[in-house]
Amino acid sequence: MRFQAPASVAFPVVALHNRATDTVDSAFIEEPMNELTLDSMLQEHRLFEPAQDFIHRARINAQRLTALQDKANTDHEGFWAEQARNELSWHTPFTRILDSSQAPHYRWFDDGVLNVSHNCLDRHLASRGDKTAIIFEGEQGDTRHISYRELHQQVCRFANALKAQGIGQGDRVILYMPMVPEAVIAMQACVRIGAIHSVVFGGFSAEALKDRIEDAGARMVITADGGHRGGKVIELKAATDLALSRSTLKVDKVIVLQRTGKAVGMQPGRDLWWHDAIRDQPDRCEPAWVGAEHPLFLLYTSGSTGKPKGIQHASAGYLLGAIITMRWVFDIRDDDIFWCTADVGWITGHSYVAYGPLACGATMLMYEGAPTVPDAGRFWAVCARHRATIFYTAPTAIRALMKFGDEIPARHDLSSLRLLGTVGEPINPEAWMWYHRVIGHERCPIVDTWWQTETGAIMIAPLPGAVATKPGSCTLPLPGIVADVVDQNGDTITEPDQGGFLVIKKPWPSMLRTVWGDEERYRKTYWGEFGGRYYLAGDSARRDADGYVWIMGRIDDVLNVSGHRLGTMEVESALVAHPRVAEAAVVGRPDEITGEAIFAYVVLKGPRPAGGIDKALTEELRRWVTSEIGAIARPSDIRYADNLPKTRSGKIMRRLLRAIARGEAITQDTSTLENEAILDQLQGKA
Ligand code: PRX
Repeated sequence: MRFQAPASVAFPVVALHNRATDTVDSAFIEEPMNELTLDSMLQEHRLFEPAQDFIHRARINAQRLTALQDKANTDHEGFWAEQARNELSWHTPFTRILDSSQAPHYRWFDDGVLNVSHNCLDRHLASRGDKTAIIFEGEQGDTRHISYRELHQQVCRFANALKAQGIGQGDRVILYMPMVPEAVIAMQACVRIGAIHSVVFGGFSAEALKDRIEDAGARMVITADGGHRGGKVIELKAATDLALSRSTLKVDKVIVLQRTGKAVGMQPGRDLWWHDAIRDQPDRCEPAWVGAEHPLFLLYTSGSTGKPKGIQHASAGYLLGAIITMRWVFDIRDDDIFWCTADVGWITGHSYVAYGPLACGATMLMYEGAPTVPDAGRFWAVCARHRATIFYTAPTAIRALMKFGDEIPARHDLSSLRLLGTVGEPINPEAWMWYHRVIGHERCPIVDTWWQTETGAIMIAPLPGAVATKPGSCTLPLPGIVADVVDQNGDTITEPDQGGFLVIKKPWPSMLRTVWGDEERYRKTYWGEFGGRYYLAGDSARRDADGYVWIMGRIDDVLNVSGHRLGTMEVESALVAHPRVAEAAVVGRPDEITGEAIFAYVVLKGPRPAGGIDKALTEELRRWVTSEIGAIARPSDIRYADNLPKTRSGKIMRRLLRAIARGEAITQDTSTLENEAILDQLQGKA
């Protein structure tokens, strides 16, 4: 890659006016999520042009990108229709492109009929039946290669097993699985028969699983005896049993994959082993031909309230987004070995593990465990062993592995890599440069991809053969994606480097369709601003003089811990559920590795601990939150106070709490506080 001389730019970050609404706490824009990161990004002037040999082989070069953009800009719907005709195999072709009559419930290609699993598997059998679809490596070193033909057979057998257990079109099935091929097989089997899956990340607790089972109205849970992670067995079946014992909704069946061999209890009549369920099932299963808008899956994600929302995606539009971004952003080719490290419990593991690579007939890698087992070179060892060509991970992982030094990656042959990607949170330039130098050997372009559970697929990212990159910027919106940065009136901010709201101005095929069971929340959260004209992403961003987008942070009370979304209210609700806690307020503070860390202020029922310290209780509360939500929600800091700082109207002064969590000077007006002495307590001084 060629390094260009810096362009000189000044970067004033201008705050938007305060304006409290249900969904937008714009005061937050004044406090982007990590000021240290932001400062370094503001001084970031480096530009990396794609190398000539990359451009020559790339699917999309600058010329082709311009042609795509021109087409998308002149005929937005025609552009998407063409993509949908070219990229998807239709059982019945669509004649309608976009139906906006029920906006913001947009419908795409809605009279078309297809099946997503057919698009991921059957259509490759003739040309790629023997090609490896999945290369799997378990944490303990076991490996498997599964061809497209074998994968098709396994999906069909499991789909038949689901049918035999009474699952049909529209039924919700919860998956609570380790990162093994059977997770993908189960997802594909659900969509093959028109059932709607909802994958719950294996790191979530029994309580979180229970909430999702109830909210989705699930009929079945598919789980495993456990999975290997960090040298331990994660006991998924035990957590499932606990969740179901607490759930008001009784599921009919639980299918259990034997992964670890650890003994588990099986409830007669309800539980059955995966291997028993598929025994005698035929390896052919006619796909359920469903309408383009048929719900494909639900995936729960955090928002501003204590209750996660079930983001619902639709079949054709979602798959189209996954496919074209595989082609455009990852430049996927037949000989690639594609590795996205995300767990299938997150949207990234849906679009770039379970669906996108398969729909493109690619070979993908799947790894079960932690990046540090047996040592911090595991990712690099997996890349080298299986000759990965494209590697996609989160900045948190890069920062964590960077800490171990350059020698560890240097022990592994990373010469097969040709493209690197990041997702989930802003990447600081230092981590970007390390990734570029030590992993990419200054040869691989880096695609920093901005998107969300709600957007279904990558929205803003460089096309590696066409767009020069800048460390820390996700660069430019993809063709057909009308992203903009607007002020509080919804007007485009034309001045470079002024912060504003990131919005999408036109519907796109892979967009969410609704929040499961909560239309009102869908409308209010995403379309409640700017007269319902634009999709509000919930992020603040700025554009530089080249039009490059720089994400600044969330504008709502959503934290980003290790690239995972968590609502502050979710953690607060978990804390107040503890018998000793009267009140709690949670904010984020910058963290070198995880991006943000959770800082909790707690008011106890009864007296505050002497000197504000009670180590045993702090540990107990951490464990409590872990059991209520999962380890990702575990607070790093807990501070006890007699009360919380509130405005006259009773609103918690979060900005004050954020400043304290960051150890910054307090600039807010604190004269309205009932008890100014609590400032010392909140700061840990008394
Ligand atoms: O704040 C943005 C951040 O992650 C949020 C979406 O989280 P989630 O739905 O869990 O999906 C994560 C994986 C797609 C966004 O609102 N985010 C995601 N990608 C980036 C990012 N922030 C900065 N740069 C990115 N590349």
